[in-house]
Amino acid sequence: TGHITLDPGYGNTGSCESAITFIDGERGILRYRGIPIEQFEQAPNFVEVAWLLIFGHLPSADEYKAFADNLTACANLDESMKHHFEGFPRSAPPMAILSAMINALSCFHPELFELEDADRFRVAAAGLISKIRTIAAYAYRHSVGQPYIYPNPALRYVPNFLHMMFSQPYAEHLCDPIVRDAINLVLLLHADHEQNCSTSTVRMVGSSQANLFASCAAGVCALWGPLHGGANAAVLDMLEQIHQGQISPEEYVRLAKDKDSKVRLMGFGHRVYKNFDPRAKMLGKVAERLLPTLGYKDPLLDIARKLEEIALEDPYFVERKLYPNVDFYSGIIMRAIGIPTNMFTVMFAIGRLPGWIAHWWEQAQTQGSRIARPRQIYVGPGVTDHVPRDARS
Ligand code: CMC
Repeated sequence: TGHITLDPGYGNTGSCESAITFIDGERGILRYRGIPIEQFEQAPNFVEVAWLLIFGHLPSADEYKAFADNLTACANLDESMKHHFEGFPRSAPPMAILSAMINALSCFHPELFELEDADRFRVAAAGLISKIRTIAAYAYRHSVGQPYIYPNPALRYVPNFLHMMFSQPYAEHLCDPIVRDAINLVLLLHADHEQNCSTSTVRMVGSSQANLFASCAAGVCALWGPLHGGANAAVLDMLEQIHQGQISPEEYVRLAKDKDSKVRLMGFGHRVYKNFDPRAKMLGKVAERLLPTLGYKDPLLDIARKLEEIALEDPYFVERKLYPNVDFYSGIIMRAIGIPTNMFTVMFAIGRLPGWIAHWWEQAQTQGSRIARPRQIYVGPGVTDHVPRDARS
């Protein structure tokens, strides 16, 4: 084991070359295929970003239309997939349902497994990006005991998602353009972030040549944890605790600094960003704009601002270069739109899916890419004799 370098959490190990996303953590820069994310703010369009990440360039008008039509065409789930939802308890975490159902797509679309076939990949990618919405919305409808709403072919990506989430069978949900743009921006700001935990997981599973659906189902599981995508729901829980008077913002920050407490300031800190997270900046601005426009006053936004203010002046956070990350404000935006807390991480998954697909495909296309197989440094006992069970003390 002498030649193996230990790098816990892979803080300094490059696992691949990638042309998809560039991050400069010191300067707070994030670019998709070279384009700074701030440039997507004016007319946010998640579907266009998905195309860009996966296929490497902005779609032409024809490419965009074909892709959007493709998304519309494959929005429905196989009818028999609906029975699977019934098997889950009402209280099932939507992330568990999401990963199970994405994996189940492997059973329904085995024709899309071909690794080398670009046309099939395109169909599989569109199918997955479209169906994750339907699965997410059905997971929600199941949890609240309401009938599933079929996708409406007249609606585009985000309005169709909101329709499946919130429409009553007799009255269609109307999508305010302000809400549509806010969700497009939330989704596209989550769309890729190079070798984060879930994307690395997708690549690792894909490196064994497992199919796209199985690899992305694994990505959902990796995203679930509170140190990764689960942080957006954990931020809301933290803000609620403070709002309900269980703890003050000052006391929360004090606890977060105390290593024995195991409490962290959720939505703060990042492995790569050591200056600021550009996504958090943009989402903070959206929250400020969106809430008054919707006529929605949220005391949690004030609490978030207060926590940010305290932490950014505290030497503990300053010395460790801990800033608000993407999860700090996204929950407040989703809450204002009516998305329940247990769906926040599902929204992150919908957003991150194009990134997972892009990385899976990039890896599959890379000549000479190898199965991911990290090494370890063994620290267990030396040679030890087996003792028969009845002779053990
Ligand atoms: N609150 C209090 N202390 C923190 C925090 C925090 N949120 N984040 C890091 N630290 C401390 C940590 O205790 C350590 O201190 P010391 O040097 O004294 O031991 C130092 O800062 C470095 O932290 P680390 O744990 O070595 O950093 P990491 O790169 O391994 O972890 C992180 C990154 C994002 C997991 C971590 O900052 C964290 O747990 N943040 C809270 C959870 C969160 O918001 N996650 C979302 C991340 S962004 C989107 C995503 O990936 O999903």
